[in-house]
Amino acid sequence: MRKERVVVGLDVGTTKVVALVGNVADGMIEIIGMGKAESHGLEKGVVVDIGRTISSIRKAVEEAENMADVKIDSVYVGIAGKHINSINNSGTVSINRPDRIITEEDITRVVETAQAIQLPPASEMIHVIPRQYIVDGQDGITDPVGMTGTRLEVDVHIVTGAITAVHNLVRCVESLDIGIKQIVLEPIASSLAVLSSAEKELGVILLDIGGGTTDISVFRGGDIWFSKVIPIAGEHITNDITVGLQTPIEEAELIKKQAGTALVESVGEDEKIEVATIGGDEKRMVSKKKLAKIIEPRVEELLDLAMQEVEDAGYRDLVPAGLVLTGGTSLLDGIAEFAQQRYGIPVRRGKIPQGIHGLRDIVESPIYATSIGLLRYAVETKDFSKRRYERKKASLINKLFSWFNRFFRG
Ligand SMILES: Nc1ncnc2c1ncn2[C@@H]1O[C@H](COP(=O)(O)OP(=O)(O)OP(=O)(O)O)[C@@H](O)[C@H]1O
Ligand SMILES: [Mg+2]
Repeated sequence: MRKERVVVGLDVGTTKVVALVGNVADGMIEIIGMGKAESHGLEKGVVVDIGRTISSIRKAVEEAENMADVKIDSVYVGIAGKHINSINNSGTVSINRPDRIITEEDITRVVETAQAIQLPPASEMIHVIPRQYIVDGQDGITDPVGMTGTRLEVDVHIVTGAITAVHNLVRCVESLDIGIKQIVLEPIASSLAVLSSAEKELGVILLDIGGGTTDISVFRGGDIWFSKVIPIAGEHITNDITVGLQTPIEEAELIKKQAGTALVESVGEDEKIEVATIGGDEKRMVSKKKLAKIIEPRVEELLDLAMQEVEDAGYRDLVPAGLVLTGGTSLLDGIAEFAQQRYGIPVRRGKIPQGIHGLRDIVESPIYATSIGLLRYAVETKDFSKRRYERKKASLINKLFSWFNRFFRG
């Protein structure tokens, strides 16, 4: 019999909130519902206004519920922000029983020893992802249960986040009476959506360049080695255009998408665009080159910062598969070509890989990479982080708060 289950990914981004409903059967995901709302309660990937965030989430969730004809009561939710840190650690235990056969309990024990790290101040663990197990010196093992050995080691990737930032996000979701299955780091989610296993094996950098944050992740040997979030992305480009061309923010956003490019050299001297002035009705003509000259240095700064993070972590020369770009800002004209020229490595825009069906025209956009990745995370990742947000029975106070939110907030 086919076993089906419904999973929901909730991407609370700086510019938009997306709820994606997937039907999972035999490891394949069929998208059956999508809801999207403008996001106004976040800055640089972090919740700064709980009320506004709740109303965006509610809108996206209700839309997805209607489309999929399901009631959403738990989600995998993405988190980002510069409070995120990641470290790699390892742990070792000995197997002392006479049969020396490794059990699930040994796995739990060894992963626990690998978690003994000094946490950054006021932070908590979001992920503890085993990268590989080593049994009596033999490495590269993904599942050692049932093997025989005396010494079991594990290498883990640990991701931490600021308690306050995590708590505020949890509160927004739970106040709508929705449980959290797991909080997932956005770079990890995006990587599950757009990287092939060959790229991850070879070594690759993924940049999810959104509105408020650029999420970085580095993979090698099939495993995640590095993850980091930097607080610069598409909104900063738009802000620079607003200032540089003295135009309202909505207009700056529009011309960035329609006429902007990250490659000054690609624009002819006499190409012009019409731009609205602040406070006035009239339009004026501006050269497209001038626009490109505003965008290119910002893109350069953003990409340099991201590449510097990769370099500082020691992975710059270990990524033969190059750079993959996703997130809304990866749609910026010329950005992939610019990166290729500047860093001399292969650069491509991310595509959604095999194993995802339904609503394809909607979800093929890089804007949905995080939400799709959240669904994949739900299906395939084994995570040992201690803090589980299994649905709690809502207390009376929470119920009242949720009732209040559903009925009275915009
Ligand atoms: N065609 C385009 N050209 C240039 N920029 C674009 C284009 N389409 C979208 N963007 C930019 O992408 C950004 C939004 O991307 P995305 O939806 O991935 O962000 P987000 O998930 O809401 O934010 P974050 O992940 O940073 O919290 C906006 O800054 C928008 O201007
Ligand atoms: Mg995003």
